[in-house]
Amino acid sequence: MDSIWRKMNHNPEKLAFSGHIQTEAAVIGGGMAGILTAFFLQEAGIKTILLEAGHIGEGQTGNTTAKITAQHGLIFDGLITSLGMERAELYAKANQTAIEEYRQLVERLEINCDWQDTFSCVYSTRDREVLEKEAQAAVKLGLPAEFVTETELPFPVEGGVRVNGCACFSPLDFLYKIAEKLTIYENSEVKKVEEKVITTAGGEVTAEHIIFAGHFPFLNKPGYYFARMHQERSYCLALSGAGSMKGMYYGVEEEGCSFRGLSHKGQELVLLGGCNHRTGGNDGGRYDRLREDARRFWPECREEAAWSAQDCMTLDGIPYIGRFSSQTPEWYVATGFGKWGMSHSMVSARLLTDLITGKKNPYENLFTPSRLGWNAAVNLAKQAGCSLKGYVGRKKVTAGEYLEDLEPGEGHLVEYGKGKIGAYRDEEGALHLVTARCPHLGCELTWNPDEKSWDCPCHGSRFDYEGRVLDGPAQEGIGLVWES
Ligand code: FES
Repeated sequence: MDSIWRKMNHNPEKLAFSGHIQTEAAVIGGGMAGILTAFFLQEAGIKTILLEAGHIGEGQTGNTTAKITAQHGLIFDGLITSLGMERAELYAKANQTAIEEYRQLVERLEINCDWQDTFSCVYSTRDREVLEKEAQAAVKLGLPAEFVTETELPFPVEGGVRVNGCACFSPLDFLYKIAEKLTIYENSEVKKVEEKVITTAGGEVTAEHIIFAGHFPFLNKPGYYFARMHQERSYCLALSGAGSMKGMYYGVEEEGCSFRGLSHKGQELVLLGGCNHRTGGNDGGRYDRLREDARRFWPECREEAAWSAQDCMTLDGIPYIGRFSSQTPEWYVATGFGKWGMSHSMVSARLLTDLITGKKNPYENLFTPSRLGWNAAVNLAKQAGCSLKGYVGRKKVTAGEYLEDLEPGEGHLVEYGKGKIGAYRDEEGALHLVTARCPHLGCELTWNPDEKSWDCPCHGSRFDYEGRVLDGPAQEGIGLVWES
């Protein structure tokens, strides 16, 4: 399902890479982090090319809600506890600066992208105290924050923390403009990277500096990012007839929704998001729940678009931005942005450009991927536990005769010989059977009824019902065993 941004925007397709070239820097991945990094490198005089497996902006940048803020959920009080005051201040400052960097680029390049200066607000419908504490922490960190009890939301709240000086925009309008003067190859999936050589189906690129900016690093080693991150999915609706909304809101409770307004060519929309879950753990009904919420809040609203997004979550909640590993000093990475890809993309682009051009950057140590604190070590053990469960498989599967009982639109794991296969019957009644093991590291896949996909609970790879890769780190599809 296309996001509202993909419905509003189209960019002419670019050529695929072919041949052999040498360059100073090569960026892998054409989302916001990759495009901005290529842009700043080129502005710094570094000859740069960018390789994108599909089309630029069609991954998570095309599915974001595009909130540009340093308020990343209920975060500041916890950051002071886990990182200490000085590093928590750095985190806040890095992301506050990112907002200003976007603003300056929009002005300098006169980008028409529905830019809106606004505020962000985390809210709770149950717990006032925790929000009061969070507001105090945000103020201590130097943010323009305050505790509030009145919001624009269509229900009462116990409290909220409002941070001013934020912004939102239409991300693809911005991205396409920034990309205009860059050397970009689309449909150029990277198959292999060895030292300075990047191999695609069309040829080889030799680069002094290689930047991995493709959401989830597809190499298992060095770096072992698969063991240090998991992925989560969330769902979003764009609604007309829901009035207008000036601020950007994020609910701290598990069932809490996120909201932002969008004013585009005279049309007022509200983006309603939520229903998060770990990838591979969806029993279904996520869109239905969001639609029920929408009808409850605004009985007259109309759905203009519905889509989902996938986010990489690190062990300590802070992105990995910096050198890819100690063994590869000229490889760089930007990943693990959580649900806050816009501000982290800008932080990444500035930080990686500074590393490559030899400039000092105040945030290098904070974001370095080589860190491993105590909290991270505990979460590493939890992540390993989840992966083990995913590897073994969690559910008793249905017996073979179930295939006949599978209703149109239903998918399920079924026993097949000594193993299991994934079975899906489409709306026309045709059956699609796939292998149910993830080609990344062999975990058992689960059916995602909302998106008709086979999802991996270990590290978040996803496949459509015919076995094609939708999300990495897996690079290959799963086998299509049989189709009726
Ligand atoms: Fe790693 Fe599936 S994504 S095993």
